[in-house]
Amino acid sequence: MFTPRPIAFVHSPYQDTSEIPRGLGARHLAEGSIELLREFEPGLADIEGFSHLFVLWVFDRATDFSLTAHPPADNRDHGVFATRSPRRPNPIGLTVVELLGRDGPVLRVRGLDMLDGTPVLDIKPYLSSIPTEKIRRGWLAEAEACKG
Ligand SMILES: C[S@@+](CC[C@H](N)C(=O)[O-])C[C@H]1O[C@@H](n2cnc3c(N)ncnc32)[C@H](O)[C@@H]1O
Repeated sequence: MFTPRPIAFVHSPYQDTSEIPRGLGARHLAEGSIELLREFEPGLADIEGFSHLFVLWVFDRATDFSLTAHPPADNRDHGVFATRSPRRPNPIGLTVVELLGRDGPVLRVRGLDMLDGTPVLDIKPYLSSIPTEKIRRGWLAEAEACKG
């Protein structure tokens, strides 16, 4: 194993989790930035060509975990690994953001769903080769159909 360390920190408009859209139909359009620590800035070379990025980050304000979760999108419990709950054994978040631009060590992005000051562990280009018809959405599809 290794000891993770932040490569960057998020500047987001959200100071409190209550401000972040959640539940069915929630849209994440918040703009902000991800500021790389200076020592990691060379790792951003050539990132400008990608429209979207995977951002791996730490739920640094989660205090515990549960193996079941009750997502706002549904009225049933689910296993934590079948959800995006912040309360997980390894508190790691994954968000796809749109890259709006880069100013040196700062990536301007849209689509943030994390609190201001959130530590970032890694950034990768967003690529997907899975055809839409192959994707199943599990309990979420059922919840969407019910609330239709
Ligand atoms: C449902 S999670 C999804 C996060 C990410 N898109 C994922 O799938 O891993 C988003 C919620 O995490 C919580 N959250 C955001 N930033 C956090 C942080 N730094 N520490 C703890 N909880 C956070 C907020 O309640 C937010 O609504």
